[in-house]
Amino acid sequence: MKPLHEPLFGVPASAGATLPPKSGERAGRGVVIAIDGASASGKSTNARIVARALGFIHVDTGAMYRTLAWYCLKKGVDVHDAKAVAALCSQWNATLDCVDNAVRLLVDGCYPAREIRTVQVSEATPLVAAVPKVRQWMKETQRQCLQFGSLVMEGRDIGTHVFPGAQFKFYLDASLSERAKRRAAEGIRENIAARDERDIRRAAAPLQIAPDAIVINNSQLTSAQTSAQILARVRKEPAPV
Ligand code: DC
Repeated sequence: MKPLHEPLFGVPASAGATLPPKSGERAGRGVVIAIDGASASGKSTNARIVARALGFIHVDTGAMYRTLAWYCLKKGVDVHDAKAVAALCSQWNATLDCVDNAVRLLVDGCYPAREIRTVQVSEATPLVAAVPKVRQWMKETQRQCLQFGSLVMEGRDIGTHVFPGAQFKFYLDASLSERAKRRAAEGIRENIAARDERDIRRAAAPLQIAPDAIVINNSQLTSAQTSAQILARVRKEPAPV
C-alpha cells in the first residue's frame, strides 16, 4: 500500500464501513457531498452540475478505478489475478491533481482521459474494483482529495465507505430500462443488469444505499430537475455551504 500522503479527513484511513454514519457531521476542513448510484443513474452529470453551482471540486471515482484497469492492461497484468492487480496498485506512480475544479488521478504524470473510456477498460474495471487492496488504496486516495477543497464525490461507496461521515449523501436511481436507454443514447452498448449484479454482489464495498442517504429516483426527471433537488437539500443547511 502506498498512500499518496496522510489523509486530511477526520476519519482515519484504516476506518472501514463499520463506522456509523453521523448525519450533520462535518468532514474536517471541507464539506463532502457524496453521490452514489448504479451505472447510468446520472451521477456524473449531476455531480458536475452541483459542483459547479456550489464552487466545489468534482471527483469522479469511477475514473480512478478505470485508470488502474487501463494501467493493468497497458502493463500486461491479468485483471483476473487479484494478487497481481494489488501488487501493481501498491507500486504505481499515481498522483492527484486538480484542474478546472475537477480532481484527476495521474499515472506517471499523465491523465489517460480518453484511454479509460474504451470498451476493454469498461470490462476490466469491475474486476479491478473488486480487489480489497485496490479498494483500500482508492479509499485512502479519495479521502486525500479534501486537500483541494470541498467536494462533490461520485461513486458506488462514497457515502458508505469513503466518507461515511459525509454531510450530504445522495443515492441516485432510475429504472433499468431508462438507464439502458441513456447508455444507448450515448452510443454505449452495455449490459447494465450484469454490471449492477457485479457491483451489488462483490464482497468488498458493494453498491449499497447508505442508511442516511437521500434517494432520488430520476427515471422521470431531467438532470436539471435532479440537480435542483440536490442543491435545494444542500442549501437548506445554514453553513458552510
Ligand atoms: O462510474 P463508472 O462506470 O465510471 O465506474 C467504473 C467501474 O468502477 C464500475 O464497474 C464500478 C466501479 N466503481 C466502484 O466500484 N466504486 C466506485 N466508487 C466507483 C466506481
